[in-house]
Amino acid sequence: MDIAALQQTFPTAEFSAGEGELTRMTLRADGGWAEVYLHGAHVTHFQPDGEEPVIWMSGCSRFETGAPIRGGVPVCFPWFGSHPNEPDLPSHGLVRQQPWNVRSVAELEDGAVRAELEINSTHETLEVWPHSFNLVLTVTVCEQLTLALQVRNPADTPFTYTEALHTYYAVSDIRTVELHGLDGTEYVDKLLETESTMNQCGPVRFTAETDRPYLDTTSDCLIEDIDLNRLIRIRKRGSNTTVVWNPWVSKARRMEDFCDDEWPAMLCVETANVLRNAVSLAGGHTHTMETIISIERLEASGTP
Ligand code: BG6
Repeated sequence: MDIAALQQTFPTAEFSAGEGELTRMTLRADGGWAEVYLHGAHVTHFQPDGEEPVIWMSGCSRFETGAPIRGGVPVCFPWFGSHPNEPDLPSHGLVRQQPWNVRSVAELEDGAVRAELEINSTHETLEVWPHSFNLVLTVTVCEQLTLALQVRNPADTPFTYTEALHTYYAVSDIRTVELHGLDGTEYVDKLLETESTMNQCGPVRFTAETDRPYLDTTSDCLIEDIDLNRLIRIRKRGSNTTVVWNPWVSKARRMEDFCDDEWPAMLCVETANVLRNAVSLAGGHTHTMETIISIERLEASGTP
């Protein structure tokens, strides 16, 4: 559907040609607003009224078909990170570089706005990953942002997948924020290239490149950002992994779509199911993973 047809069919949202002429959907609700590119069903903006943006975007991101957007909320499916056996396949799976369809946009009774985006397996995806799938990302905007990724297996045979809502958060300076909610949680340090795990002790503080799937955790996470006087609260359902990532200096330099000096301003805290938390889905079944993102003032909530 072109922009005019989308606008006519879903008048509750605003459709426009975004960066790189990719179609962008703006959702304005009581309490906040968000932007979603149909390319990857990629949320690129969320801002509660009266607050600074919550989601971080790279100023060096590409916006083109066949390339991922850098920042925002990439949807990773049916594998997270590099493909386990074929490193030439796209990082983070098959759907973040594909156009999704808008299925519905509605204003809810409480003034929130909810959009559903959908994508299905194709001949091309079946050649790479031999399972039919149907994915629906539901984006609900008010003073908080709720993202729900529903995976449906329409076939008779089961499949196993990994997934993430790979959210990039805007922070004042990664070197001064603390991430709460993972104390005592087992994690894999992907930078060590070993399968042995470690346990988090206290809040996560950042002094170097960090790339860690925390396993078997359903806890809320809190990004405590004293300089912005805010706490980002990340709640989740249907997720047993939280991935924490910041590329720091040299990895940022190696990434073409990430400006060299941007790394202090972002932190990825990803609602995910990866490694031993991969999801096995029987034929005809669905699984939903959800993340709920909200802001609190630090002085109101006190020490997390
Ligand atoms: C993180 C992974 O989630 O995403 C990292 O744990 C990876 O290993 C990062 O480098 C960015 O991935 P990409 O494919 O968007 O460059």
